[in-house]
Amino acid sequence: MKVSVSFLKYQNSKEETIKKILDTSADYLHVDIMDGLFVKEKNDNLDEFIYLLKNVNKPLDIHLMVLNPKEYIDKLSILKPEFITIQAEILNPLVYIKQIKDYHIKVGLAINPNTSIEKIAKYFEYLDLILIMSVYPGSGGQKFIPDVINKIKEIPRDHILVSMDGGINDETIKNLKNDLDICVSGSFICLSNDYESQIAKLRK
Ligand code: DX5
Ligand code: ZN
Repeated sequence: MKVSVSFLKYQNSKEETIKKILDTSADYLHVDIMDGLFVKEKNDNLDEFIYLLKNVNKPLDIHLMVLNPKEYIDKLSILKPEFITIQAEILNPLVYIKQIKDYHIKVGLAINPNTSIEKIAKYFEYLDLILIMSVYPGSGGQKFIPDVINKIKEIPRDHILVSMDGGINDETIKNLKNDLDICVSGSFICLSNDYESQIAKLRK
């Protein structure tokens, strides 16, 4: 299982937090972008993200919690991310799935806790990743919703990677390690004083 680290919650500055993540053995940097529409919170200054992330030495795992991803995808493609993940609950996700693929970027579809796998089965053939949200998106540091675990076994694993995002820590990950390709973890790592040892606890 790979570890993707989210820096939505941090102790000092965003810049310092990113730098500290880049100094760990984390597999991906998870980038949460919110538009104030799909979720209440807003942090979608793309020029700032591009400035912060343009020289990072880890693959980027971008999570767009936005209602209309078109411009976000166009602008962020310059960063050559490993994945761009959009939310399944927006209008016409297939349009953006195709837009991401046109940039030769791997495409992920995130599903909120109350969205079923059945509802997104029609997109399976286009997807590289499914991001099972284990909290309602919008903020870091929320409590893990265990019901979503059942979704894992409904996903065809021949070509789709499975990731989980929200409330992941050394306890909530315990029985999941063998079933996930990637776990996203934010506050468990970035609110600690030793990022590397927290990452090791997730993998152990
Ligand atoms: C939730 C975000 C998550 C979150 C993860 O809206 O998509 O990536 O920041 O942070 P923790 O691990 O604190 O739930
Ligand atoms: Zn996220």
